[in-house]
Amino acid sequence: MSLIRSDYPEDFLFGVATSAYQIEGHAKGGAGRTHWDDFAAGPGNVVRAEHGALACDHYDRMDEDLDLIRDLGVDSYRFSTSWARVLPEGRGTPNAEGLDFYDRLVDGLLERGIKPAATLYHWELPSPLADMGGWRNRDIAAWFGEFTETIMGRIGDRVWSTAPINEPWCVGWLSHFQGHHAPGLRDIRAAARAMHHILLAHGTAISVMRGLGMSNLGAVCNMEYAEPAPGTDGSDADLYDAIYNQFFLSGMFHKRYPDVVLAGIEPHLPDGWQDDFDVISTPLDWVGLNYYTRKILAPDDGPWPHHQEIDGPLPKTQMGWEIYPEGLYQLLTMMKERYTGDLPLYVTENGMASEIPFRDADRVAYLETHLAQARRAIAEGVPLKGYFIWSLMDNYEWALGYEKRFGLVHVDFETLTRTPKDSYRALASGLRR
Ligand code: FCB
Repeated sequence: MSLIRSDYPEDFLFGVATSAYQIEGHAKGGAGRTHWDDFAAGPGNVVRAEHGALACDHYDRMDEDLDLIRDLGVDSYRFSTSWARVLPEGRGTPNAEGLDFYDRLVDGLLERGIKPAATLYHWELPSPLADMGGWRNRDIAAWFGEFTETIMGRIGDRVWSTAPINEPWCVGWLSHFQGHHAPGLRDIRAAARAMHHILLAHGTAISVMRGLGMSNLGAVCNMEYAEPAPGTDGSDADLYDAIYNQFFLSGMFHKRYPDVVLAGIEPHLPDGWQDDFDVISTPLDWVGLNYYTRKILAPDDGPWPHHQEIDGPLPKTQMGWEIYPEGLYQLLTMMKERYTGDLPLYVTENGMASEIPFRDADRVAYLETHLAQARRAIAEGVPLKGYFIWSLMDNYEWALGYEKRFGLVHVDFETLTRTPKDSYRALASGLRR
């Protein structure tokens, strides 16, 4: 790999990322049921109805996994804390075993010299809260505040960084308007409410953590570069960009939502939404970008937002996503110019799914070309401070089950044996000090 540490600023961090439901084995350790367990049980929602009951069995193989992270030579590990593992009912009595698990995880990282980068919520909403409307219910901000206090009251003194909610767009739009992820709704009113409540919960959690004396608090947003289809006037790409890439940062940094998005969702927002921006814009210490691909947009004659994605000409990953490294540079630059200024930025996820089990030269090339765009942004003054690869190991890829493999480490889902791929070795040699 052409990656060498010395090509990056002295304090630049490299890391790998995972999330709780995708790796832990949610049936273990007294965790409560989640809306992903419910969603996966419905016909047609998830490939082969696969779920995260065992996943990579990280719950019982944590030490082996932490050794893999250490031996890779990365500086930080981005993991998430399952709400339902900590509070099986979503509120009320904590699961002592769950708190102990995250305590051991954080200590295990620190013992190995790795900075723990926590995400509070990476999608496994406790089912009892889903019963009460989940993200559609304004009370979720207070429920999330309680969860934040419970988990960070235990590990907040030792984590290096924390972000409340992984990928607001996925939690809101993908899950409540497009119906691809739990709870699988296709409902504009649900989507509008969820998107607003996600931001309210985000701001609430940041305040709770400030109250606990924590620092280095951020937000993690996913974005896709929006390209107009040839021959179109660009308005479809602009609207896609506004819903996907601008909505959440605009709320957090400009205390308003983009007009072109309000044109579609304003009638469906909860009463009094305009009064929530002081909470939503609670100051942050950094922002993370999860970046994988671009989309090409053209009009269609359906209801708002009246657009469709067009198949693109570039080489694609196992996900069918076009490989478009320039988008990483474009979006980092956009974030700095429009929203974050001098605030540190991180690439909190980037990587590819590949069917090649071990000799994954395609992944090495993907990482190299995206890192080159990260260096380009740094050279032009974007305060990019680190880069996390999705993912440490093959895992449960949500609605696509276990067949889409994003790992630097191969996981045999029959035996749960971990085997480092070529990309793992290439990265380890590039990161060696
Ligand atoms: C991101 C998610 C992560 C994983 C990757 C491929 O949107 O945060 O859990 O599914 O995509």
